[in-house]
Amino acid sequence: MSETPLRMAIAGAGMIARVHADAARRAGAVVAGVSASSPGRAKAAAQSLGARRSFDSSEELVTSGDVDVVHVCTPNVLHGALVRLALGAGKHVVCEKPLATTAAEAEELTELATRAGLVAAVPFVYRYHPMAAEARARVLGGSTGPVRLIHGHYLQDWLSEPGDINWRVDPAVGGASRAFADIGSHWCDLVEWVTGHRISELTASVQTVLPERVGGVAQTFSASRGTDVAEAGQVAVTTEDTVQVLFRTDRGASGSLVVSQVSPGRKNRLWFEVDGAAASLAFDQENPELLFVGSRNGNAVLPRDPALLSPEAARISTLPAGHPMGYYDCFAGLVADVYRTVADGGEQRFPTFGDAARAARLTEAVLCSARTRSWIEVS
Ligand SMILES: NC(=O)c1ccc[n+]([C@@H]2O[C@H](COP(=O)([O-])OP(=O)(O)OC[C@H]3O[C@@H](n4cnc5c(N)ncnc54)[C@H](O)[C@@H]3O)[C@@H](O)[C@H]2O)c1
Repeated sequence: MSETPLRMAIAGAGMIARVHADAARRAGAVVAGVSASSPGRAKAAAQSLGARRSFDSSEELVTSGDVDVVHVCTPNVLHGALVRLALGAGKHVVCEKPLATTAAEAEELTELATRAGLVAAVPFVYRYHPMAAEARARVLGGSTGPVRLIHGHYLQDWLSEPGDINWRVDPAVGGASRAFADIGSHWCDLVEWVTGHRISELTASVQTVLPERVGGVAQTFSASRGTDVAEAGQVAVTTEDTVQVLFRTDRGASGSLVVSQVSPGRKNRLWFEVDGAAASLAFDQENPELLFVGSRNGNAVLPRDPALLSPEAARISTLPAGHPMGYYDCFAGLVADVYRTVADGGEQRFPTFGDAARAARLTEAVLCSARTRSWIEVS
């Protein structure tokens, strides 16, 4: 980190904006500004997030001369245009997933960032759980043997009732895919990163189990008015609540994934298992201090202990054994790595726009497969 603190600013002022602000401070940056859906909301957010100032618009924020790194934390449909503006103004960018609502735009933004030589990160943050990194070290180090099967799920319940409504439900704001783009993409990023395999073909089925929801329970979003509005009445829903994917990888493994935002009692259950010829590994994001290691000769559940972990898992273990780490620590680790690269131009250890473009391609493959009821190759 350089002597002068980096100045970061956040477009968006919701749940994840606070996580970004706190992670940035932990990494030694200054929260220079924040924007929201209206100047009034931005003012309130600046106060609540401890930002130096509010910006009346996100466009002003991402091009401001007083900002070094832009964090895009708005509803999905706004990501692409804000990132394009930020890169055009020479800013390093951390953009929330999905980077864009189409694969073509995600690829174009990746290309723009590469050409500009700017740091361009996307918070596929679960990679920063030390025990997920330990799983990766074990698979890549060969202790599991060749991977044969990759399986798991990502389940939530916050949209399981007809009264549950959010801007994500509207495809004009959230994008054509909801459950897969929102959370299935995290699962795929994580298992591809852990195994080094790439999903090369897939077949998927999607369901909208609640084709009508009742507005007014949570905020919805109006791009035209640029404001949050609580609307009453029936909302027709076309995006998917649940997804099942079967896949094969480029290195000869196969697998399956179930994604749901309507599974009662499941809050943020990202779980995967990798079955190799010699050992299986299982990781549960809601119990991230543990890694299951299975073998024919006996099973073990490893607790996180930096002294016993592989170098990368130990590096991102910022607390000693027995002092539980969690989601906030993952985010802090990711943002610290991003800022290190911004400061010294060094290695990009974090997930990048290239990974976000891959997630967008997988998302389109899932929707295409569900529509055509066929297997789709993923480039
Ligand atoms: N990486 C992760 O683990 C993770 C977790 C949660 C959310 N996300 C992503 O972060 C983004 C935001 O999600 P959230 O959960 O914080 O949503 P949220 O609904 O809590 O917040 C969205 C915020 O954007 C604001 N907003 C609306 N229009 C705006 C505009 N024109 N300019 C600036 N702000 C505007 C709203 O006022 C609201 O405060 C989404 O893209 C989501 O996919 C990522």
